[in-house]
Amino acid sequence: MKPKENTSKILDWKLLVKIFSLALPYQRKFYTAVFLTLSIAILGPIRPYLIQHTLDTYVAVKDPHGLLNFSLLIFLLLIIQSVMQWWSTILANFLGQQIIYDLRNKVYKHLLSLKLKFFDQTPVGTLVTRSVNDIETISEVFSEGMINIAGDILQIVFLLVLMFGTNVKLSLVCLSVLPFLFYSGYLFKEKIKESFEEVRNEVAKLNTFVQEHLSGMQIVQLFNREEREYESFKEINKRHRDANIKSVFYYSVFFPVVEVLSAISIGLLVWYGAKGVLTQDITIGTLIAFILYINLFFRPIRTLADRFNNLQMGMIASERIFLLMEDERDKEIEGTIALTHTNGNIQFKDVYFSYIPGQAVLKNINFQVEKGKTIALVGATGAGKSSIINLLSRFYEIESGSILMDGHSINDYTLASLRKKISVVMQDVFLFTGTIIENVQLYDKSISEEKIIATAKLLGAHHFISNMPNGYHQKVTERGANLSVGQRQLISFVRAMVVDPAILVLDEATSSIDHETEEIIQEAIIKMREGRSSIVIAHRLSTIANADEILVLEKGEIVERGTHNNLLQNSGYYKKLYEHQFAD
Ligand SMILES: Nc1ncnc2c1ncn2[C@@H]1O[C@H](COP(=O)(O)OP(=O)(O)O)[C@@H](O)[C@H]1O
Ligand SMILES: [Mg+2]
Repeated sequence: MKPKENTSKILDWKLLVKIFSLALPYQRKFYTAVFLTLSIAILGPIRPYLIQHTLDTYVAVKDPHGLLNFSLLIFLLLIIQSVMQWWSTILANFLGQQIIYDLRNKVYKHLLSLKLKFFDQTPVGTLVTRSVNDIETISEVFSEGMINIAGDILQIVFLLVLMFGTNVKLSLVCLSVLPFLFYSGYLFKEKIKESFEEVRNEVAKLNTFVQEHLSGMQIVQLFNREEREYESFKEINKRHRDANIKSVFYYSVFFPVVEVLSAISIGLLVWYGAKGVLTQDITIGTLIAFILYINLFFRPIRTLADRFNNLQMGMIASERIFLLMEDERDKEIEGTIALTHTNGNIQFKDVYFSYIPGQAVLKNINFQVEKGKTIALVGATGAGKSSIINLLSRFYEIESGSILMDGHSINDYTLASLRKKISVVMQDVFLFTGTIIENVQLYDKSISEEKIIATAKLLGAHHFISNMPNGYHQKVTERGANLSVGQRQLISFVRAMVVDPAILVLDEATSSIDHETEEIIQEAIIKMREGRSSIVIAHRLSTIANADEILVLEKGEIVERGTHNNLLQNSGYYKKLYEHQFAD
């Protein structure tokens, strides 16, 4: 999913409205923050105005009483302004954090609802970047972005009103640098936007690389690719660094430029203003007030370019996130019937399927699993065996034909109720960080410990689990690295069986396991099949031999079918396969 390249538009109002609607639940805080920011923008420029008034009215005529009053007033104003500043900072940051908290929850929930196809096509690192870094950026729209920009602009406008209201000529003189300022601000904004976008992309690449290669560490080490791996990493890391340095470079140029321009502006002011003071066209108070105005004027301009960028970065990030959230194509399609009871009658009728349009993976698949019977799928790797079972759990949509359960299309059932009736044991067992109990429960606390132990006993897993230092509460490290392949397999059997499914789908592991565990597993498989419909992708002779029907798949098509003995008599593909695999 490549995000749309952003827009030369300075502000995308529709997007902005969407971003701000995130603050809807916190309207009072939001409006208070807006009110405070705008008030501060007005209060700032009033101070120089009062100082001018104090100097010209009270100091010039030596009125200590008036001087004291006005000084107190200025001081009071300063206090009020500081308190408001403090309050608005707190509010803005609260809003930012609260909104990213909400948004992150929403994004994660959305990810949970997506089809497997989406995850086939989107690198995990990208999704990590979306749900961590990009969302972080949005908080800045609230804490550093739009509200402050409005405040800055209001302050600038108000300053201009005060300046021109006081002295038009003087204003024109010191604002004569403005065109240069705007031009350099514009250049800066464009450049920094480019480099920020580059930084974002590099962050995503870094995340993707680290995530993927840490997961595949074993392969990296097994094939002695550490050196090369390190080189690739250094390269990506270098690009990340360069992108950041580039963005810092633009700042380092822009800020001094603004300093110089403001110094020139004050220089012009003093030069022209001092002449005016001498000829008594301009009062001392006005001159001093103007110096303060200029300082106030340049301060927001310095930050304005930066804030615009924050805003734009926030918009780019939020555009990506909204795009992800609003993409309904990959949302799982829900049925309406809740499958409460099933006989376990499954039928595939003329099923065609492809992962990538045009490249058929399954063609004209027809078979039926009657209640309590077992179908075995055999065939070379890539023949389409796993794809068939993926379809049954509705991980992917079929192209044509139908898959029926108890006479209804599986699309008519709600996903949750359908998947609840089908237990799938994958070829590769995935265990999460947590205890064995937690790995079997998978957050469903209604599955009791007694039930788990009983199931483990039935399947012959109890022995090895209870022999571990912490028994069923033994911690499993990431992906079950501290367990043997056979042990992981048995745990996944327990996981599948505790829910007492009506249908069992088993992708038999190909990896060879020690003889003793192998026997336990074989027995467990026999027990698991008892009394339920099963579809088994079989690699072991014992599993195949006592299946009710064997389907032989070749390049996505069923080329032979029958019982073990029938097929052997046929001397077709199955016989060759059998001789090849089980020659000894
Ligand atoms: N997620 C996927 N995206 C695209 N193609 C896939 C995907 N999974 C499998 N395939 C392709 O579909 C074909 C059948 O794969 P699969 O059903 O896994 O075969 P088997 O389980 O029999 O080894 C293979 O050619 C494989 O490359
Ligand atoms: Mg497979």
